Amino acid sequence: MKIKVDLSNKVALVTGAGQGIGQAIAQRLAECGAKVCVNDINADTARSTAELIRARGGEAIDYVVSVDDGAGVQRMVQAITERWGRLDILVNNAGVEPTASVLEMAEETWDKTLGVNLKGSFLCSQTAGRVMRAQGSGVIVNIASIAGHSIPIALRSAYCASKAGVVGFTKECAREFAEYGIRVNAVCPGVIITPMTEKLRHNEAMMAKWMQEIPQRRLGEAEEVAELVLFLCSDSASYIAGQAIHVDGGKVMV
Ligand SMILES: NC(=O)c1ccc[n+]([C@@H]2O[C@H](COP(=O)([O-])OP(=O)(O)OC[C@H]3O[C@@H](n4cnc5c(N)ncnc54)[C@H](O)[C@@H]3O)[C@@H](O)[C@H]2O)c1
Repeated sequence: MKIKVDLSNKVALVTGAGQGIGQAIAQRLAECGAKVCVNDINADTARSTAELIRARGGEAIDYVVSVDDGAGVQRMVQAITERWGRLDILVNNAGVEPTASVLEMAEETWDKTLGVNLKGSFLCSQTAGRVMRAQGSGVIVNIASIAGHSIPIALRSAYCASKAGVVGFTKECAREFAEYGIRVNAVCPGVIITPMTEKLRHNEAMMAKWMQEIPQRRLGEAEEVAELVLFLCSDSASYIAGQAIHVDGGKVMV
């Protein structure tokens, strides 16, 4: 069951929206009337998400830049405001999840993971936040993870650290931005069926373990994450700020 939200006249930026959760979010925002900038580092997938939205009657552009490139992020936000005159919704979704043990991880892997997942959220929030402050309104949703709370995920120390950082960043950002009419929240998905989890889903032992630990006994769909993001972007969530909300079939109970 999809929630009904009216986002006509709203402009949204979704990072990492070429596939997976970001693509589902971009599609739902567009279905509800928002004009959407589809960001990704992959030009082909960014283009095809934007085409998919336009084919269904929505309005979308694609913009290729890495979210850890500050100057590039500024150019992207400028392109959005030049085209549509405003920016109402930012979803910091772009993420990478490399695997390596702490003892074997290359320094570059740590830097890249923290750079995309955490610094990318900061750079986009800062740049979009300045536009939203001038407007006196805006919504930011950061896609964190259950790995940002109490669940360590095997061989993903950089990922867990980055997502814990995203949750902390969300809270302080929400506190600072509240006076400008900007709400900031985080969403913490459990294991969701996307290209990111493809390898994991083919690991029988790992899947058996997850199935035992998830009370709903199934993995989540990208669309189920998108519904929560959509709600947080809507006026129905007007008094919700600084939260990190799980969408994980009951895996984490806090
Ligand atoms: N799938 C899950 O189970 C799960 C669980 C918890 C959190 N998450 C988080 O949700 C978000 C989306 O995950 P997904 O499963 O859809 O992953 P995915 O790998 O399927 O998609 C991620 C997208 O981000 C893009 N991207 C990567 N680096 C980028 C960069 N530097 N700049 C711009 N775009 C970049 C990729 O090209 C890709 O299109 C991520 O932040 C991920 O950590 C996913």
